Amino acid sequence: MSRSWFISFEGIDGAGKSTHIEGLAQWFKSRGHVVTLTREPGGTPLAEKLRELALHESMDSLTEALIMFAARREHLVQVIEPALARGEVVLCDRFTDATFAYQGGGRGFDWQVLQNLEQMVQKVPNTNLRQPDLTIWFDLPPAVAAQRLSTARVPDKFESQPQSFFESVRYGYAKRMQESPTRFAQIAADQSREMVWLDVVRAIELAYSK
Ligand code: TYD
Repeated sequence: MSRSWFISFEGIDGAGKSTHIEGLAQWFKSRGHVVTLTREPGGTPLAEKLRELALHESMDSLTEALIMFAARREHLVQVIEPALARGEVVLCDRFTDATFAYQGGGRGFDWQVLQNLEQMVQKVPNTNLRQPDLTIWFDLPPAVAAQRLSTARVPDKFESQPQSFFESVRYGYAKRMQESPTRFAQIAADQSREMVWLDVVRAIELAYSK
């Protein structure tokens, strides 16, 4: 493995992606890669400020979508593009599919408007539209996620949404996967942690062999 790689990780809250992202960072490092581990919304000082607003203030749904994309633009220009240019592996805890799933699916915000914003924000030099090379979707039934989250820390604005919201978010992810099937690896996140990990590694190896 020698080329740069951009991998995003998605799923509803409680799907358990965080521990696997940490594990993968070690996995790539032990194979000689330089890894940039980052997240959205966030990843730069300004984008982290926008994250605070987006996760804790109630706001109009267009405002919310614009904040997600504004944070993404900063993150892309300041962190992701430079890391890819240096030939690194970028592991990103959520990226643009989260906006389609949460703002599009969960909030019911206009899909076409999100697509327009995506075109504008993810346009970078030498690449028409920056997208992850691979998106790993930790797919979990919302009822299972709700049980997991009930024992977790104080919920933010999204985590405190009802189960029906997460059904819509899940539908949003499924729609995104339908639109770009070769980019996505859907992983059943209701298995044991060990089985999920094996599926994650298998998805990475498969994508890389293509
Ligand atoms: P999350 O990634 O779950 O981080 P943590 O579990 O460490 O708090 O939190 C981010 C939240 O933001 C999550 O509920 C999904 C939401 N979100 C959106 O609504 N739209 C987006 O575009 C992104 C990136 C995240």
